[in-house]
Amino acid sequence: MKTRTSNADLHSQIDLKRLPQHIAVIMDGNGRWARKRHLPRIAGHRAGIGAVRQVVEACARLGVPCLTLYAFSVENWKRPHTEVKLLMGLLREYLKKEIKELNRNNIRFGAIGRIASLPEPVQHDLRETIEKTSSSTGLRLTLALNYGGRSELIDAVRDLASELNGKDAPDLEAITEQSFSRYLYTRDMPDPDLLIRTSGEMRLSNFLLWQVAYSEIWVTDILWPDFTERELFQAVIDFQRRERRYGGLG
Ligand code: IPE
Ligand code: IPE
Ligand code: MG
Repeated sequence: MKTRTSNADLHSQIDLKRLPQHIAVIMDGNGRWARKRHLPRIAGHRAGIGAVRQVVEACARLGVPCLTLYAFSVENWKRPHTEVKLLMGLLREYLKKEIKELNRNNIRFGAIGRIASLPEPVQHDLRETIEKTSSSTGLRLTLALNYGGRSELIDAVRDLASELNGKDAPDLEAITEQSFSRYLYTRDMPDPDLLIRTSGEMRLSNFLLWQVAYSEIWVTDILWPDFTERELFQAVIDFQRRERRYGGLG
């Protein structure tokens, strides 16, 4: 008889000394989850919050230093106004409810993306969550909101160019991969070691284009609202079995 490995067994297979230092997740499939149940798309987004809680808590308990969740892309504004409005509402609800829990788990909250273009009430709640969790020293939880990999690169180039503009003889040789990455939204985070995407799609959808150059990619058919700590453990176990070569011979 085939028995299902328990979550505790999966957990025991993880080498806690070789954890990914940064896990990035493309949370996809809320709409499909809802459609399967003949529910409106927003019901899928709401159910997706449960998966966010599980993954955040599991990463905090494992001791993963950074977790970045793709919650709203610059392209997602193309969706119907009602869906966008409901998503922003859900985000505010999540932030308000979660501050206590984030603090209890010693989690520091942050956001990346074109935050200044989000509705003011959303910005207010983001600022509040950032401030109220700023003294946490555990997991760094970052939400990518109004985020696009290409717009992040454009923002970085604009910042860099405006700095160089003020100089008589700018030293272009000083622009290196390392120095350039300090202009990105993720300037104080390591690049993701592990990139997870749910719902089976094999694409990046404009997520962290620069940073995932050498990330290990793990895709599951599971729809985001069904994602649990179990799948997170599986992804980490798989990650630890990979041979990372960075273009060398390993
Ligand atoms: C991911 O689920 C959540 C967001 C992009 C905000 P989707 O809403 O993309 O769900 P599908 O891909 O339509 O199933
Ligand atoms: C990617 O999902 C964006 C987020 C998870 C926020 P999408 O559902 O927007 O991506 P596409 O349209 O399938 O590429
Ligand atoms: Mg989608």
